[in-house]
Amino acid sequence: MRERVLLIGGGGREHAIARALAGGDGEAELYACAGNRNPGIARLAAEFETVETTDPEAVVDYAEAIEATLAVVGPEAPLAAGVVDALEDADIYAFGPRRAEARIETDKSFQREFMAEHDVPGCPDFAVFDDPEAACEYVDAYDGDLAIKPAGLTGGKGVKVIGDQVTAEEGKAYIRESGYDRLVLEERLVGEEFTVQAFVANGEVRTAPAVQDHKRAYEGDEGPNTGGMGSYSDAARELPFMTAADYEAAVEIIEATVDALDGYRGILYGQFMLTAEGPKVVEFNARFGDPEAMNTLPVLETDFLDVLVAAREGDPLPEPEFAPMATVCKYAVPEGYPTDPTAGAKVEVDEESVARAARATDDSSGDEPRESAGDALLFYASVDERDDGIYTTTSRSFAVVGVADSITEAEEIAEDALAVAGEEGLHVRHDIGTADLVRRRIDHVEELRGD
Ligand code: AMP
Ligand code: GLY
Repeated sequence: MRERVLLIGGGGREHAIARALAGGDGEAELYACAGNRNPGIARLAAEFETVETTDPEAVVDYAEAIEATLAVVGPEAPLAAGVVDALEDADIYAFGPRRAEARIETDKSFQREFMAEHDVPGCPDFAVFDDPEAACEYVDAYDGDLAIKPAGLTGGKGVKVIGDQVTAEEGKAYIRESGYDRLVLEERLVGEEFTVQAFVANGEVRTAPAVQDHKRAYEGDEGPNTGGMGSYSDAARELPFMTAADYEAAVEIIEATVDALDGYRGILYGQFMLTAEGPKVVEFNARFGDPEAMNTLPVLETDFLDVLVAAREGDPLPEPEFAPMATVCKYAVPEGYPTDPTAGAKVEVDEESVARAARATDDSSGDEPRESAGDALLFYASVDERDDGIYTTTSRSFAVVGVADSITEAEEIAEDALAVAGEEGLHVRHDIGTADLVRRRIDHVEELRGD
């Protein structure tokens, strides 16, 4: 039977999921719905419907109308709204956690209390507050720096780290003025961050290579936190600043979490800080990372549909194969993102030239011929396609991904692709994936470890 797969969500991550499904052996007929019309997804799908994806009834209506046999939920907001529960009630299998299990992401106080209760390793010191004044007293009394985290979803933009982004006084002002009704205060973790994403179903866990995202808006890790400005992965499972044992320690934390969660399905995303004592959990997400999905799915050689069908059928999950290639992803975002983004600006993207740039990387007539051909990919994100063109929203616009044998080559390919795609009027962190930045990550961990 040909599967009719409904993809929910319209960002860069979902464009990467759409590509993974559409690029399979043809067994998937793809349908998609999102609040914005993502031109990349719309082109890959048999049909694209504009739907409010946090409205479970609207999603179920569309899923029933197209007779979906499977659904994949990309972003966290529909998970938090109970879209998976509603699809399940309508007898449609959705790859994603139900609302209760998605709390591992959507409620940071639940997440920390859950880790503590089940003795999941890698949990930092934390405390939960409903009263801002009590939280401020805790800041004053605490010996060391704290991370201040609203318990609910903030698109990755609500966390303030004392001693990094803010002083203790600014942190307390934030606690008093931000109006969040529940806060988690936790030990500031010092180290290098990395992500490990896992396919999870029926108690089984299959992990993907580590990725490093870049949360801060500006080069050199300055500026406000964003949803992620870009990311890289290496040809190995671990990143250049990690050992294979660091990667395995992170996998063990994910496995312990899945064991304790009992019945979780979908993607479990672990965000880790590689500290002097090894990986600690910064957070869990109940979905692929965005941008990280754009690193991981292009090198996934196993058909993603096979994973989804095995999950639904209760069959053993296939052991995913990943091409031993490095990837570098760079986002182009509206000027002013994330604090004051310019929405409604026209975006001109030259996709043809990106495809040509990919082929041109094979050209060895330059001064320094590259050793091997790479690939350049373009993913549309939170843009909206209208009759007269593509427009920015308040979030990230499009991403380019270079895929090659090394991070350095992948970075060059991503830059070439950006140059031809056209990034005018948009902001890019050009430092992501550069040799200099990766070297600094390695030096940082060596320094922490006293090597
Ligand atoms: P989160 O929304 O939990 O991913 O937090 C956003 C970002 O804040 C993370 O990617 C980290 O850079 C930073 N952060 C969160 N928790 C901590 C912590 N305990 N120590 C240091 N930085 C943190
Ligand atoms: N890249 C961070 C996230 O997806 O939450």
